Amino acid sequence: MTALLEVRGVSKRFRGLLALDDVSLSLKAGEIIGVIGPNGAGKTTLVNVMTGVHRADAGAVLFGDREITRQRPDQIARLGIARTFQVVQPFPAMTVLENVTAAALFAGGAGTIARAREAAAEQLEFCGLASQSHKPAATLTLAGRKRLELAKSLALRPKVLLLDEVNAGLNPAEIDHALELIAAIAARGITVLLIEHLMKVVTRTAQRLVVLHHGRLLADGPVAEVLADEAVVEAYLGRRYAQRLAEQAQ
Ligand SMILES: Nc1ncnc2c1ncn2[C@@H]1O[C@H](COP(=O)(O)OP(=O)(O)O)[C@@H](O)[C@H]1O
Ligand SMILES: [Mg+2]
Repeated sequence: MTALLEVRGVSKRFRGLLALDDVSLSLKAGEIIGVIGPNGAGKTTLVNVMTGVHRADAGAVLFGDREITRQRPDQIARLGIARTFQVVQPFPAMTVLENVTAAALFAGGAGTIARAREAAAEQLEFCGLASQSHKPAATLTLAGRKRLELAKSLALRPKVLLLDEVNAGLNPAEIDHALELIAAIAARGITVLLIEHLMKVVTRTAQRLVVLHHGRLLADGPVAEVLADEAVVEAYLGRRYAQRLAEQAQ
């Protein structure tokens, strides 16, 4: 299968720190890929480079046949790559519906404001937020704000969705809901890259796992293979934990 989104030999340096070190990764249409790694591993930087927030110092990012390495975030979003932010940032005074309508208008193609509002209402329904539509975004709980982030991203009608720790800070029941929603998004044919701090969350949802460690790609493959990978066990998981996860994954 050809790659939908590809990162080729990307490095990114912040002053003395090599945040991404020659990382290559390719996302195929329709897959859910999990990215894990400890704090500071370069996960968010990877998403920032893929979405034009940071420019790679070396390497290239390709979307289909098109090189997007030097495109701006708004251009990349319009091409069909949406992302959520680790720290959610709605327009607080606007209602939930207005926040998503703004995203639908930004994506273009929605035509009139009324049509954009309709599209936004559909995404809110899909994300389980319809009943909160007319509340100011600032009044949502953390779980609600994370769902709002998802609804905003979906309003862009993306082909690829990059999710940066959407489950962080949620309780187990909220995580279950979020994972169901992510699976439903993938079932719509949207390719999902799921950045997670928690290994056991990502192994429940992703088909493929990528491990980042000190800016390097330590492993990339089917979940069970990566969990059994010596380098991953050594650097990140620890032996007992790896065994437990492997048992759970079966
Ligand atoms: N804008 C920035 N300026 C300077 N250093 C940064 C910046 N963004 C990230 N870093 C550093 O790059 C490394 C990787 O960060 P990040 O990608 O946020 O890791 P992760 O998301 O895996 O926790 C960290 O050491 C972080 O401090
Ligand atoms: Mg991060």
